[in-house]
Amino acid sequence: MPDRVRLSERILRISDSATMKAAADAASLRARGRDIVDLGPGEPDFPTPDNIKQAAIRAIEENYTRYTAAGGSLELKEAVCSRHAADFGTSYTPAECVITPGGKYAVFGALQCLVNEGEEVIVPTPYWVTYRDVTAYCGGICVFAETDPADGFALTAQLIEKHLTPKTRALVLNSPCNPSGHVIPPEEFEKIIHLTGNRGVWLITDECYAHLVYEGRPFSAASVRGAKSRVIVAGSLSKTYAMTGWRIGYALGPREVISAMARLQSHSTSNPNSIAQKAAAEALGGPQDFVAQVREEYRRRRDFALERLRRIPEVRCHEPQGAFYLYPDVRAILNRSGVRTTMEFAGQLLEQAEVAVVPGEAFGTRDHIRLTFAVSMRELERGLERISRFIAGCME
Ligand SMILES: Cc1ncc(COP(=O)(O)O)c(C=O)c1O
Repeated sequence: MPDRVRLSERILRISDSATMKAAADAASLRARGRDIVDLGPGEPDFPTPDNIKQAAIRAIEENYTRYTAAGGSLELKEAVCSRHAADFGTSYTPAECVITPGGKYAVFGALQCLVNEGEEVIVPTPYWVTYRDVTAYCGGICVFAETDPADGFALTAQLIEKHLTPKTRALVLNSPCNPSGHVIPPEEFEKIIHLTGNRGVWLITDECYAHLVYEGRPFSAASVRGAKSRVIVAGSLSKTYAMTGWRIGYALGPREVISAMARLQSHSTSNPNSIAQKAAAEALGGPQDFVAQVREEYRRRRDFALERLRRIPEVRCHEPQGAFYLYPDVRAILNRSGVRTTMEFAGQLLEQAEVAVVPGEAFGTRDHIRLTFAVSMRELERGLERISRFIAGCME
């Protein structure tokens, strides 16, 4: 008998991503010929804009195909800093910027470079699952701050204050939030920064959906006066420019942290893809009309999907102010139908109604499911019709 493989203790702390599992389950049924309406994944259904694709084609033709600096090209760092300044009124320089292979790696790098074994990281619930697993991977302890569904999962400085301890090292915020769609108002961000700054706690602010807000203007915590020295911005081009497959993100922050993140990158992924970096520089420096156009389209889809969902008497759903997910409460159905968890609910919905969604347990809540509205109106209509029929069946 061969010895059982002994994996590192560190890697055993992290689990498979539940969102990826939901996508794999849907794909495997589809591969068997089933007509699945997939409301699971978190990615735009639009193609990458043409000017961005052309920049990548030019990069190949001009042989921009070699290693760049591990932390990204100067051209792209300048484009990131200029775009962030134009959109949010910040003043970062290239020395305070690292280009990462996707926004996820910016979150990973920031936590790896800041958090020591046994230190606490405050993560509001519901959370994007990566925060939990990456914190565990670096030996940190996640302290979950539960927001209230009755308030649309609003995050307040008061809630954060209750979870601060002498061991708190960092707070991870995501506004607009995946999955709840909550957007933290600027005045609340200011209070939070005041609170964390005074205690020497790092704020890692995940701006993956920062441009997808349906009320008011996009906002960055890094623009709060005096915030820069304690804030790490984790940014991404994936959702804003429909570039999920290109794998370009970035971090902005104090240069000591940024150069540590570039060092980690130099020994792990090395530089992000050179061609994708050229494309990203065009995305950030070229025309921005696409961003406003898709935002309006998402708003139309959100309003449609929300109205349809709210027609189902057993479902409660708050209006998301940003990102592209609905996060309805399906507790009434769980109570009546004998389905115990949203994991089971999502499994049955997929098997019986052929609609893929992500169970709320993946995000640290018990009563909700996540469905995306970054799909065509036709798919939304088909999906919601099927969900409605499935729930009616559960209640019989
Ligand atoms: C909240 C949040 N942050 C970061 C990311 C990372 O995006 P990417 O690595 O594609 O840039 C995602 C992707 O789903 C996300 O939902």
